Amino acid sequence: MADLLRVEGLRKTFTLGGPPWARRRVVALDGVSLALGLGRTLGLVGESGSGKSTLGRCILGLTTPDEGSVTFDGTEVASLRGRALLDFRRRVQPVFQDPWGSLDPRWTVGRSVREALDCFRIGTSADRDRRVLDLFRRVGLDPDLAGRRPTRLSGGQRQRVAIAAALASGPELIVADEPVSALDMSVQAQILNLFMDLRRDLGVASVFVTHDLGVVKHVSDEVAVMFRGRLVETGEVEEVMDRPRHDYTRALLAANPALHVLPAPRSP
Ligand SMILES: Nc1ncnc2c1ncn2[C@@H]1O[C@H](COP(=O)(O)OP(=O)(O)OP(=O)(O)O)[C@@H](O)[C@H]1O
Ligand SMILES: [Mg+2]
Repeated sequence: MADLLRVEGLRKTFTLGGPPWARRRVVALDGVSLALGLGRTLGLVGESGSGKSTLGRCILGLTTPDEGSVTFDGTEVASLRGRALLDFRRRVQPVFQDPWGSLDPRWTVGRSVREALDCFRIGTSADRDRRVLDLFRRVGLDPDLAGRRPTRLSGGQRQRVAIAAALASGPELIVADEPVSALDMSVQAQILNLFMDLRRDLGVASVFVTHDLGVVKHVSDEVAVMFRGRLVETGEVEEVMDRPRHDYTRALLAANPALHVLPAPRSP
């Protein structure tokens, strides 16, 4: 089966500003390649500054790599323009750590989700209000909350709204960058369960960025371990967890006390 996503030889260097004599170059991505099949979840782990978010942004087409390519469903992302780019944005959606990125504080959260439907012209105009409520139910939110402003929701509820907005366009791939890191432990478990439900029920593929191997173990089929801009280990999640080959992965596993934190039980 053809891969949904292919990343080949990605390199990205940032130059930190200041006067010429103080400039510093940071190699964020140093030759990254990976592939992901339809409906698969890849957990991307690594220490702070290892390049996870940069890779996520390159996949989303938000950062342009210096070298290498990102190919989604057979087309190189950097070459997309106009309608093709809009179509890519419909099919590949981000979820960030901070849901405020997709929420306008002046709007009701229902309007924020509706905006996503309007933007991609999903369904008829009359249909969209009903779809908003369906999306609220889909992410486990009471549809009555659609009339509230984001400040009147909890952090977990706001992240659910952001996920509803991401799902509005019916994406085939979600790139989630630390989507639970800012939430309380118990809420983290609920949101992780939601991601697992979406994978099961909608078959959405995802790249799930986290620094927490415990999270990866529960949400991913595959894992990719980043270290200083490179992927040092990739494979099926059980294989990498049970038989890590790279010293850095072993160190991560040994240092990770969160591995025993399981998502809370849920109803079937
Ligand atoms: N826009 C930018 N301008 C300059 N440097 C950047 C930029 N984005 C990332 N970097 C640098 O690139 C490197 C990789 O950063 P990146 O944010 O991808 O790491 P990360 O693995 O997501 O880290 P974290 O776990 O802290 O989120 C870091 O050294 C970072 O400072
Ligand atoms: Mg990051």
